[in-house]
Amino acid sequence: MSKGRRSPALVWLAVLPVAIVLSATGRAGDLALGEYLSAECVTCHQISGRQVAGIPAIIGLPEEAFVAMMDSYRRRERENQVMQAMAVRLSSEEVAALAAYFGSLKPSQ
Ligand code: HEC
Repeated sequence: MSKGRRSPALVWLAVLPVAIVLSATGRAGDLALGEYLSAECVTCHQISGRQVAGIPAIIGLPEEAFVAMMDSYRRRERENQVMQAMAVRLSSEEVAALAAYFGSLKPSQ
């Protein structure tokens, strides 16, 4: 019987790294995230703030108003299949980020 031999299980316990769970950055309205996510939106919504082909401008809006509109699509209170499909895929954090980003833009004309 060899004495003093550590069981592999003990070694693993010692080696297992402490899992550091970085909480997702819970800050509301992350501009960088908003800019990243906006790429999809600006295929329809003009970043210049011009309204084109019945697609409303969404820049320079108060953040609460922007979030409220996205929520109304998400809850299907406001009818529009495209926007409903967009809104249901976004988390609250993502909507807040988009609101901050688009809200920070000024019309460029
Ligand atoms: C395929 C085209 C398309 C894409 C992509 C798109 N939208 Fe829209 N969006 C529309 C249309 C059309 C409307 C007007 C719908 C209506 O009449 O309710 C609209 C309306 C909106 C409104 C309401 C504006 C207002 O003043 O009433 C907001 C806010 C909005 N979109 C945000 C976004 C965001 C954020 C994204 C990206 C995640 C996005 N949209 C992507 C076509 C699009």
